[in-house]
Amino acid sequence: MIKISNRLTTIANLVLKEKTNGVIDVGCDHALLDIYLLQNNNNIKIIASDINKLPLESAKKNIEKYSFLNKIVLKEKDGLLGIENDIDTVVISGMGEETITKILKRDKSYLKNVNRLIISSNTNNYKVRRDIIELGYLIKDEKVVFEEGKYYVIIEFTKGFKKYTNKELYIGPILKNDLNLSYNYYKYLFDKKSEIIKKIPDGNKEKEKLKKEIKLLEETLLLK
Ligand SMILES: C[S@@+](CC[C@H](N)C(=O)[O-])C[C@H]1O[C@@H](n2cnc3c(N)ncnc32)[C@H](O)[C@@H]1O
Repeated sequence: MIKISNRLTTIANLVLKEKTNGVIDVGCDHALLDIYLLQNNNNIKIIASDINKLPLESAKKNIEKYSFLNKIVLKEKDGLLGIENDIDTVVISGMGEETITKILKRDKSYLKNVNRLIISSNTNNYKVRRDIIELGYLIKDEKVVFEEGKYYVIIEFTKGFKKYTNKELYIGPILKNDLNLSYNYYKYLFDKKSEIIKKIPDGNKEKEKLKKEIKLLEETLLLK
């Protein structure tokens, strides 16, 4: 069995917990996630795609090593352009929020049959939530993983409509319910932002925004 990071294992477990016909891993890079998925469910159709040649070469080497060249379809592709109708699950991980939301908004016509999005951005999860629910998805599950000194948030969206408060979009409507899992993450954000705000002069717009974020984090931390 291939060994993958906790972050990728958490993403894979979210993919595997529901029945899935076809998955596309957008920006697959090494394709380790895709190999793991196939090792754990031999029946899923998997497309590992990347916009760049170099990652695709490394993906091909890894897929070859595990003898999955006839199982995992490798594609040089930008975002979701031209994805097949039987793809019902999209994974996008390890990219910034802007790239992720840009892909999804631009390619929304390809989301018709996509029931689930598993997203892990390494930047602004408030904007990830805000922009993806606008595309007709709701937040089904959320996880946070600490690995090699960094926190990674992973969000599962499914088709549907739900209204969220600004606080929920910032804190995470599911993450906040499991403080055993997320307390250290919120504390990390609280400490980091509390340090940053000290260096910003009064009256600065960014300072007001940070103040609101720190207040939301504080309220959440106090719940424990
Ligand atoms: C940091 S890697 C993340 C790899 C893997 N998904 C993970 O989470 O470990 C980001 C990958 O996304 C690819 N990428 C960036 N923009 C893309 C796009 N518009 N369409 C497809 N792939 C893209 C890059 O070439 C790169 O291989």
